[in-house]
Amino acid sequence: MALTLNEKFLNGFVGSHEVESLATQTSDAFATVCNRSGAGSDFLGWVDLPVNYDKEEFARIKNAAERIKKMCDILVVIGIGGSYLGARAAIEFVTSPLYNTLAKDTPAVYFAGNSISASALQELLSICEGKDICVNVISKSGTTTEPAVTFRIFRELLEKKYGKDGARERIFATTDKARGTLKSFSDDMGYETFVVPDDVGGRYSVLTAVGLLPIACAGIDIDAMMQGAADAREKYSEKDPLKNDCLRYAAIRNIMYRKGKVTEILVAYEPAAQMLSEWWKQLYGESEGKDNRGLFPASVVFSTDLHSLGQYIQEGLRNQFETVIDIKTSPVSVKIPHDPANIDGLNFLAGTELHDVNRTAMLGTLLAHNDGGVPNVVLEVEDRSAYSFGYLVYFFELACAVSGYMLGVNPFNQPGVEAYKKNMFALLGKPGYEDMRAALEERMK
Ligand code: PA5
Repeated sequence: MALTLNEKFLNGFVGSHEVESLATQTSDAFATVCNRSGAGSDFLGWVDLPVNYDKEEFARIKNAAERIKKMCDILVVIGIGGSYLGARAAIEFVTSPLYNTLAKDTPAVYFAGNSISASALQELLSICEGKDICVNVISKSGTTTEPAVTFRIFRELLEKKYGKDGARERIFATTDKARGTLKSFSDDMGYETFVVPDDVGGRYSVLTAVGLLPIACAGIDIDAMMQGAADAREKYSEKDPLKNDCLRYAAIRNIMYRKGKVTEILVAYEPAAQMLSEWWKQLYGESEGKDNRGLFPASVVFSTDLHSLGQYIQEGLRNQFETVIDIKTSPVSVKIPHDPANIDGLNFLAGTELHDVNRTAMLGTLLAHNDGGVPNVVLEVEDRSAYSFGYLVYFFELACAVSGYMLGVNPFNQPGVEAYKKNMFALLGKPGYEDMRAALEERMK
């Protein structure tokens, strides 16, 4: 079993009778997902994706990854939101946040087009100088400003460096199967393209080509990742919400929300899970934060943040609960050395595995935060393998959809994302936005 829900640290905060009393509502929300009968049901392709994916494209992804690995030192992945977070989360979780600087026989993978920062882009261009580069541009709509601007710059760079034909071999586009400017442009240019399925939204797309191509380029076993997701799908098909950990998690979140615990903090004790938390924040924030509702998804990495946000969590406003990812095993063994002088008084730890100290820090923190009035849900995960990552992805995606329906929102749209874009276009002088620009300028006087 790749994941176990441990509710021990909810004692005194959420009783099992409360989860039981939500059983019908939880079941109904789950049935809404399974029967595809709720709002946004056109975007439920991710539910069966782990077993029902395009096998021909999957083979093409592996093939392209092999070519990319041979062709370049750096793969630049251009995308924003759901078009990059999953891949980055997987690469850091399974390998390391330092993947790019560690010795390896796979290309460095840099993510670009996820901000409008001139410095960030310029720094990446400097890193790319003198290196062989491939580009994977990812945009479902094909029109998102941040990746589009970045793609212009990298396309120009690749065409100057390798010529149009050389660039064609090195540019891979992941986008809609038929619509959008990126698709038509890629077809015109002869780039190899991969598909973001119509029925899978950006934040649910990590197990499509969106995530799989960059992940495979980093040498990660994407078969194992899909298997993890497929096993989670099987496991969480259990209809009884009280016997299904994924549904229990959704119900517990709903109970927390009703009790005024409106901030959920995802806690990891491994820096490698930091980007997983960023992916999770987008998944839950964009899915639930609408109609003036929704838990606010936050994240911390402990013990690092115990020396910053730890104070707030222990004694600040009591409106939060924590969901802790407990990774039970470490891929490496690091033992604390003996110091004959025992200057720091830590010889009682000599010979102890650092990972065991880390997990003891977790236990101490769970108890302290419980004492401070903070409920904790613990998700015990075996390891940081590709299999576990796929399992976690499916667990969180399904729980998110069920939670969203329990909350009464459409978990698959993101109408609020448009607001800043319209203002930005108007202020930048995009044709057609003249009236809006005048109104905004008036407001800023
Ligand atoms: O989850 C989502 O749908 C969004 O975060 C999108 O992934 C993000 O806005 C990028 O969109 P696109 O892939 O169309 O460029």
